Amino acid sequence: YASQIATAVGRKATLIDLGAGNCAKAAKLFPSLQPSEYVAVDISEKFLQEAVAGLQQQFPHIAMTCLGMDFSNELELPVSISRERRQFFYPGSSIGNYTPLEALKFLLRIRKTIGIDHSNHSGKDNDDGEHKSGGGGLLIGIDLIKDKAILDAAYDDALGVTASFNLNLLQHINRLLDADFELREWRHRGFYNAQQHRVEMHLEAKRNVTVRWKNGGSRQFVAGERIHTESSYKYTQQSFTALLQQAGFGKIQTWCDPHEWFMVCHAQGG
Ligand SMILES: C[S@@+](CC[C@H](N)C(=O)[O-])C[C@H]1O[C@@H](n2cnc3c(N)ncnc32)[C@H](O)[C@@H]1O
Repeated sequence: YASQIATAVGRKATLIDLGAGNCAKAAKLFPSLQPSEYVAVDISEKFLQEAVAGLQQQFPHIAMTCLGMDFSNELELPVSISRERRQFFYPGSSIGNYTPLEALKFLLRIRKTIGIDHSNHSGKDNDDGEHKSGGGGLLIGIDLIKDKAILDAAYDDALGVTASFNLNLLQHINRLLDADFELREWRHRGFYNAQQHRVEMHLEAKRNVTVRWKNGGSRQFVAGERIHTESSYKYTQQSFTALLQQAGFGKIQTWCDPHEWFMVCHAQGG
């Protein structure tokens, strides 16, 4: 759908990638979107700087800015970032890690940051033959509600990739807090909770365990006790577009795969 997405987003925009990581997804859009500026935002600043430096060599004509920040509480961009035609990019289904209420607040913050738009909203080519559809907006990926068995298998995969990812949290806590979680004593649980419309990930104690950390702190866990480590909310096409509308976005366009398991939406700033 690259050309349809480019028509919706418009060329020569300021593309703001939220949680850019290695920037690979945004880079795939560059040939069709031809952004005038690329702003990569990630909490993991050093990794981001290296990724952007590599990308700048591949695309020397695109101005690039690297922002190391946590956007979960506020989303304030430096004044040097153009206020015109801000197109936010939030791929994957990272928005699913927020509860629906938090997601709504996050979408409201994005819409506020898109700001005032002085460009042509007609979606037509301007006098220079340059497509300028829709001013500012948001291009976002959503994981759709689907068969429970498919979601369960995705979050408790046969290769144990998600289990390693989840258990790594304990290793991280051990490193940060000098704690003594024994990874072998914990089991990964990942399943779809249909009532809450979310996949839940938990770590479950295989037996009675006592965990200690520096300064003498400790916590006892009984066999079967769980630590809820992550939620990933899933949406229907209708429920997510309704959330975008509630956040005040204007025209919404959506694209899905043939199974309708995933959705990409473009929403105009309103
Ligand atoms: C699942 S990765 C996605 C990376 C990339 N966008 C992709 O789709 O391949 C999520 C990224 O968001 C970043 N991230 C997560 N929470 C964040 C926050 N609150 N503020 C800034 N970056 C965040 C992580 O460091 C990570 O690089």
